[in-house]
Amino acid sequence: MKQTGGGEDAKRRAGESAAEIPDDGDVVGLGTGSTAAHAIRALGDRVDAGLDIRGVPTSFQSRELAREVGIPLTDLDEAIPDVAIDGADEVAADGALVKGGGAAHAREKLVDSAAERFVVVADPSKESERLSHPVPVELLPDARAPVADAVRAAGGEPELRAAERKDGPVVTDNGNLVLDCAFGEIDDPDALARTLSTVTGVVEHGLFVGLVDEVHVGRDDDVDVTSY
Ligand code: A5P
Repeated sequence: MKQTGGGEDAKRRAGESAAEIPDDGDVVGLGTGSTAAHAIRALGDRVDAGLDIRGVPTSFQSRELAREVGIPLTDLDEAIPDVAIDGADEVAADGALVKGGGAAHAREKLVDSAAERFVVVADPSKESERLSHPVPVELLPDARAPVADAVRAAGGEPELRAAERKDGPVVTDNGNLVLDCAFGEIDDPDALARTLSTVTGVVEHGLFVGLVDEVHVGRDDDVDVTSY
């Protein structure tokens, strides 16, 4: 059962809490979405105050925001993140995640899984006992039909993500398409993650299993931190 509550203040509290983590000299993975954006802005404030960090963006959006708030940037060719701070669409009690609401999950998984410490920031509406949010699957444009068949064979119902304010589908930062795949309640996220990863034409899916080190959930007037 999903929790209610939260909103922008809860997202901001979670983002600001995680932004306290980096120390001088750290490389920081910069997640995508509205909650991670609060962390990026708070990190920008700390950089203004003298903090010496470099950021590794996970999307066009996080790169633009980091530049705007003055965080120097690097990439995975140059450095491994000490910590990555990222949002999620759903956070299960065991720390498994669904990500990709902003279609950035391929680069997010690259950066978040490379980081020494992966910290998720969320508001209470993202918490759930078990995962049931549709799983975004990024795929090569030519692979739409066979990947959709493979998703159905795995028990899912795929839907091509449509763009808003543009006719046709969402095209990711990597030039690919996204299928949002509804599986209902997911009994074994690890097994489903492995199944989806083996489908030819799938670039990356939004199940993040066994990756999270810490989750910061913003509440009405504080932040709950859970370690995994
Ligand atoms: C981006 O593709 C996603 O993985 C986001 O991190 C996720 O959708 C959370 O976004 P919000 O913080 O805006 O809810």
